[in-house]
Amino acid sequence: MSSRKEWAYIKSKTAPKGLFLPKDKVNISPNDRGFMFADGVYEVIRTYNGKFYRLPEHLKRFQHSLDALRINFSDIPLIEAAIKELLARNKLPTGDATIYLQVTRGVWQRAHEFPPKSVRPTVYVEAARFVPQKEYARLGIAAITASDIRWGRCDIKSIGLLANVLARQRAVENGAMEAIFVRDGVITEGTHTNVFGVQKGEVITHPKTNHILAGITREAVLHLCATYGIPVCETFIPECNIPKLDELFIAGTTTEITPVIKVNGKPIGTGKPGKLTKALQVAFRDHVLAAAR
Ligand code: PDD
Repeated sequence: MSSRKEWAYIKSKTAPKGLFLPKDKVNISPNDRGFMFADGVYEVIRTYNGKFYRLPEHLKRFQHSLDALRINFSDIPLIEAAIKELLARNKLPTGDATIYLQVTRGVWQRAHEFPPKSVRPTVYVEAARFVPQKEYARLGIAAITASDIRWGRCDIKSIGLLANVLARQRAVENGAMEAIFVRDGVITEGTHTNVFGVQKGEVITHPKTNHILAGITREAVLHLCATYGIPVCETFIPECNIPKLDELFIAGTTTEITPVIKVNGKPIGTGKPGKLTKALQVAFRDHVLAAAR
């Protein structure tokens, strides 16, 4: 972390009106439902060249997550204002940044049922400089497969990420950068990315169901495929078909489009980033820069 003071926004039991504070001065109660139960939701948003990438889409998904968990929060204008103020305070009007936002069900004594309606949700927002992993994007990464032991509502961007944490750690311990989840014999998604296969010129990805997050980058990839006439099939990729794939890539807010060149130690296709993946990377860059102009 840089030595420069980093500002964050907190609205909580101890700061009911909402405060901008140096990040290391933010206090969260141990009785916060996020701390006790992972009872909260989050979003990760990017700026490119100081401009938001698909902010309304992220905020819409955030509201979907909140509503799905019945967290009584809908003050999206407050979040938007906090984000904009943080970009200014943290001197991020140009260049790349990530914004992290989280809302939990608030602070109450530890009890599984919802707290009384008078308990207000906790809101936390931060914004930091982002340095993309250019080498991974250029050279590709290794991945492993991992059993998808997550719950049945992966469409909710819940802060309960233990299965993702365990799988990603196992990937890192095996010299890989991502773990690809497999549920009922088919690829669902990565620990923090959506997953796409390419076979005979067709892009294949898991359909938008409760078993994956509806990725904003996933949507952009599908849009780019439509624009460039690349055939897409939203269907299941059985784990046993991984060796038959010509190409494989992951996509997400912090990953953009990154080729996967090896799974469980075995090469995908030629073992180098694939042609279609590279073409989509170029198209994605152009698309993002056009949006950030
Ligand atoms: N993760 N699938 C999962 C499980 C994710 O956590 C993410 C994003 C994605 C990609 O979604 P998007 O394109 O909207 O970023 C797919 C964020 C970046 C994270 O947890 O850090």
